[in-house]
Amino acid sequence: MKVLGMVCSYRKMGNTEIAVKEALMGAQEAGAQVAMIRLTDYRIEPCRGCMSCVFKKVECPVQDDAHKVYRILTRYDALVLGAPTYLLGPTGILKTFMDRGMGFMYGYGRELEGRPALSIATAGIPGWESYALPVNALFLRALGYFIVDQFVIYGQGPGEVIYQEEGMRRAKNGGRALVEALRGEKRYLGEAAPFSCPYCHNTLLQFTNSTKVKCPNCGIVGKLGIKGGRCTIEWGEAPDRWIEKQVIWHFEQQVLPSGPRFMEKRREIRDRTAPYRDFSPPAP
Ligand SMILES: Cc1cc2nc3c(=O)[nH]c(=O)nc-3n(C[C@H](O)[C@H](O)[C@H](O)COP(=O)(O)O)c2cc1C
Repeated sequence: MKVLGMVCSYRKMGNTEIAVKEALMGAQEAGAQVAMIRLTDYRIEPCRGCMSCVFKKVECPVQDDAHKVYRILTRYDALVLGAPTYLLGPTGILKTFMDRGMGFMYGYGRELEGRPALSIATAGIPGWESYALPVNALFLRALGYFIVDQFVIYGQGPGEVIYQEEGMRRAKNGGRALVEALRGEKRYLGEAAPFSCPYCHNTLLQFTNSTKVKCPNCGIVGKLGIKGGRCTIEWGEAPDRWIEKQVIWHFEQQVLPSGPRFMEKRREIRDRTAPYRDFSPPAP
């Protein structure tokens, strides 16, 4: 059983690294072999939108370390993801890395499907971490991981996270839970909190109209109601968009057909976009 920690902070021995290490210590105590990388030690360039990982199912042509890091993930049975909160969400490197992962989400097959992951967000101020766990969950679920636990640990200056005893305990237990999940003993640590998505436990929900609510990550829809003067959500049966079958459906039915559609219209598009090509506002 091999568990990898991935730290998405530039601060060495910062709060994220410490929290991830605590989880790895828990995994090691439970019998796993552990390793850790800092995503920030690698050169991760933005996706250029060529779509060759999806349309041609070939390795990304961008010459950097993204493919190499995804390959590292495939060598480990479980993952501890740790990302600090910058401006309410995880650091940009995680989003940049996520955008580069479509080959591993669909193109080359879903090698990471069904592996357990623990998601840790660090943040300085309670209430200022709105997108942190939902975006971590998006990264993990899109790749096919299932989440054994996800939580925020607070600490501002590097190392202050050690004062968060409950959070650190949860990190260590989360590491152990990964091993339990690998042994087939447990899948999810807790019940979904009220008003959170029953699949990814995301609490950042979208009101799509006055009667419906949607999990922006999983895409599942719930019906809003009132019982005893209190709001209720009755979640529908619509499948989570990140289960393997749905991901394949999405790419094969919604994304791949855009290729021939574009090729058919490309001359018309070229003609109709001529005014935009001819209009060149000067650089500042
Ligand atoms: C540019 C920047 C933006 C930040 N934005 C937030 C924020 O929106 N909410 C929050 O709670 N903490 C914020 N923080 C604090 C960090 O999340 C916090 O210090 C965290 O523990 C850093 O983890 P690290 O030590 O692993 O880098 C921010 C820190 C920086 C440097």
